[in-house]
Amino acid sequence: MKILHVSSEMLPYAKTGGLGDVVGALPRYLSRRGHDVRAFIPLYDTMDTDAVDLDLVIPELTFPMGHHQIRTRIFRDADNPTAYFVHCPGLYSRGSIYTGHDDEHRRFLALNVAALTACQYLGFAPDVIHCHDWQAAMLPLLLKVRFGWDRLFANTRTLLTIHNLNYQGGFSSAVVPDLHIGGSEHLLHQELLAQGRVNFLLHGILYADGVSTVSPTYAHEIQTPEFGAGMDSFLRQRSSTVVGVLNGVDYEEWTPAADPLIPFRYSADDLSGKERNKEALLNAMGLPYVKGVPLIGVVSRMASQKGFHLVPGVLPGLLARRDVQLVALGSGDPRIEDIFASLQRYFPRQVSYYRGFSNKLAHFIEAGADIFMMPSVYEPCGLNQMYSLRYGTIPVVHRTGGLADTVQLVDPVNGTGTGFLFDHHTEEGLRWGLTTALKAYRTPGLWEKIVANAMAMDYSWEHQTLVYEELYSRLVS
Ligand code: ADP
Ligand code: GLC
Repeated sequence: MKILHVSSEMLPYAKTGGLGDVVGALPRYLSRRGHDVRAFIPLYDTMDTDAVDLDLVIPELTFPMGHHQIRTRIFRDADNPTAYFVHCPGLYSRGSIYTGHDDEHRRFLALNVAALTACQYLGFAPDVIHCHDWQAAMLPLLLKVRFGWDRLFANTRTLLTIHNLNYQGGFSSAVVPDLHIGGSEHLLHQELLAQGRVNFLLHGILYADGVSTVSPTYAHEIQTPEFGAGMDSFLRQRSSTVVGVLNGVDYEEWTPAADPLIPFRYSADDLSGKERNKEALLNAMGLPYVKGVPLIGVVSRMASQKGFHLVPGVLPGLLARRDVQLVALGSGDPRIEDIFASLQRYFPRQVSYYRGFSNKLAHFIEAGADIFMMPSVYEPCGLNQMYSLRYGTIPVVHRTGGLADTVQLVDPVNGTGTGFLFDHHTEEGLRWGLTTALKAYRTPGLWEKIVANAMAMDYSWEHQTLVYEELYSRLVS
């Protein structure tokens, strides 16, 4: 099949969260299966262009957008011919992937139009266009209206994948002229338009041939008012086309036996390296190492979604009463960053927090910690709990979305299960999860079993790529 991906993030070029991991992996795994795959992302100034050998494939690609004339050039990674970049410094040289600027809608509309126009230029007729999140959600409508005349796209089907329903790309209706769908404005959601608003994600939900999200449980949850973020009724209307496909893990990057980013490699057969990583991690984070003291790890965007507002009510008591340590990595909302900064201040021998983004430290924490804490309020899929499983770092998670689909509750009697899930997103819930995990940690024989169960789990892209292939085939037929 010919498959086009359109996304705002893609590893190793641009990433703020799991979307980058997914779009960095899926196109690559699809090409290995023999498909002709192209993935378009913006060429941000934050990308390390010294590390990428860029080939110019289209020297000039220009199109109007409202009163603006958007001039772009299209590059390709010489070493990864699936990756295409839309070069337009006026839009993408802003020092970060996302901005709150007035033209945020235009930055990503331009990505959509450039990707479709590049297809015309290259004579690439996609069977499927896989659109990721709100940044590509207007594409199905643009394809119908603005590009519908072109027979190149006569058999093209679109799939919208929702990685996070709470980011919707909502803008004032003043952006409508930038869509260039004159004469077809009745296709925009009229009620919203009457309120002076447009919502990009909504139009993807309405017009994509297929809609998917990144776990079966989240696919169900987003059709309820509680998790639907105002979109649940539209998703219910399209319920027969809404499916949940769990993200895969790129085990070429996340395997402790072959991870170049950690000091000591290890496997389920020989965990001695894990203990040495723990000692090295604590050292690096400025904390004392005492054998037998459990270490909790956190790697996360510091966003309200991740549920850390439960931490101030739970962790101080736990740290004061028990021999336990915590290392945390993440940045984002300053109020959430402060939760971890304060813990570090109050418990300087037990807590260390690194505010920032570091892939190396993320790997190091996965390898060195014993327990991984992820109390998300909602979680479309979540990748870190799956990485944790592979690293034998036992997740303590809220039972929601992809966390519910990938972590199995430990049964201490039979020694089954891979982690600890709490049902209610409350302080009691998180406290129960952590204290139950700590108890299991100290139960002779039990922890080793849980670690072995966790490390044996397989959520590989090899398998999930086949699921997408099937979904694409269904759309095309
Ligand atoms: P989300 O996409 O909602 O942030 P996921 O669990 O799907 O959650 O993916 C998060 C990805 O981002 C993981 O690869 C994780 O390791 C990475 N990540 C998050 N915060 C940081 C950070 N501060 N430094 C390095 N990697 C991070
Ligand atoms: C979003 C979600 C996360 C998911 C990721 C990749 O950022 O918050 O749960 O794993 O996208 O699909």
